[in-house]
Amino acid sequence: MQKLRTIKGTHDILPWDIHKWQKIESVLRDVFASYVCKEIRTPVFESTNLFSRGVGEFSDIVSKEMYSFQDKGGDSLTLRPELTASVARSYIQHNYQQESPLHKLWYFGPLFRQERPQAGRQRQFYQYGIELIGSPFPEADAEAIDIACSVYRKLGLKNWELHINSIGSIEARKVYMEVLRDSLKAHKGELCETCQDRYDGNILRLFDCKNPGCQEVMKEHAPSILDHLSEEDKQHFEQVKKLLDAAGIDYTINPALVRGLDYYTRTTFEIKGTALGAQDALCGGGRYDKLISDLDGPDTPAVGFAAGVERLVIAMEAEELFNADQSFVDLYIAPMDIACLEGISPLVHSLRDKGFRVHLELMRRSVKAMMRDANRQNARWVAVVGEQELQSGNLRLKNMQENIQQEINLNEIENILKK
Ligand code: HAM
Repeated sequence: MQKLRTIKGTHDILPWDIHKWQKIESVLRDVFASYVCKEIRTPVFESTNLFSRGVGEFSDIVSKEMYSFQDKGGDSLTLRPELTASVARSYIQHNYQQESPLHKLWYFGPLFRQERPQAGRQRQFYQYGIELIGSPFPEADAEAIDIACSVYRKLGLKNWELHINSIGSIEARKVYMEVLRDSLKAHKGELCETCQDRYDGNILRLFDCKNPGCQEVMKEHAPSILDHLSEEDKQHFEQVKKLLDAAGIDYTINPALVRGLDYYTRTTFEIKGTALGAQDALCGGGRYDKLISDLDGPDTPAVGFAAGVERLVIAMEAEELFNADQSFVDLYIAPMDIACLEGISPLVHSLRDKGFRVHLELMRRSVKAMMRDANRQNARWVAVVGEQELQSGNLRLKNMQENIQQEINLNEIENILKK
């Protein structure tokens, strides 16, 4: 019989690795609080319609990667492949605009895409992200980018770089796409099969192709989108850059950065991990002024980003930014038998109520084995509890770091642990 295992492209976050995730989550909470953003949690599955309308029928996510299924009532549901559409749905459903004209939201959670698994690419992965909803102004774009960079700075990550671009308003982009089609017409035959399809469908996707032949064609013959922006788009982008300069944030302007989701307008950006392999996008985002109205909500501009947590863990491991697992035990209780365990129970409860981390032996091991275990668990103190100790009210406490033993009255233990 086949052994039960995680499904391809999914993974367990193991108890001895969880401290890495907790470190990241704790920094995220601090950073997001410092920008006064509020957390939002949305369901893991939504109506399939939300993503096909929100993310775009021609995007890879919708056309190839969604985990969609029919529930028993016959509705088509999808495990969320991204969170921006879900947040937009929530915004519309709960009339956020009536609460306040600006909402600064953050999220953290699992997403699902049926991609080909490889290092840094899973079928279930985690993202954290920000959506700033309500402001059409470049200061919101700069703030979103600033938050994204702040997380890496706070975590001490060194090997990353920010790429920014503007893909203009929808009108300007339509014109550009025609110019692009004309410029590439004579070279269509040199493109890979997928790109030849994209040429007719969604020509901007040509910028994302990893095929060297296609990349060469694009480099040689694709005009820059930045030369085809409207005056307002240009001014918006200039102001975003000025604000990033003012905040001391370095960036590279990358006119090929068009992003794979259909909802973007104007600013797009990505942060690349420079020491990561093929899956080097740590974070991606941009402005999406039409998404909420496209989903039948009020006309509401917005900008945001999302970042992969697994890739961040890989990048931080490569830079040795995690300490060894720091979780340790304040007091390891080693009872000689079950009667001693009962006798010490009131002390154990009172110490735990006060917030001390107290490990109580559950395996009925020998004293020697308990000592070994206490060492492995990095316990500060061990108390061997026998009948004699319980009767006298004095416990033998061993300080594991200094390897010294003291006799301590039960009432004094709390003071010792506080030191
Ligand atoms: P995205 O570029 O599709 O954007 O994903 C953002 C980040 O999620 C990527 O840069 C990467 O770090 C991570 N990621 C994506 N797919 C995988 C995968 N299969 N395995 C591991 N990590 C992955 C979005 O999702 C947009 N909703 C971002 C956004 C928010 N735009 C505006 N607001």
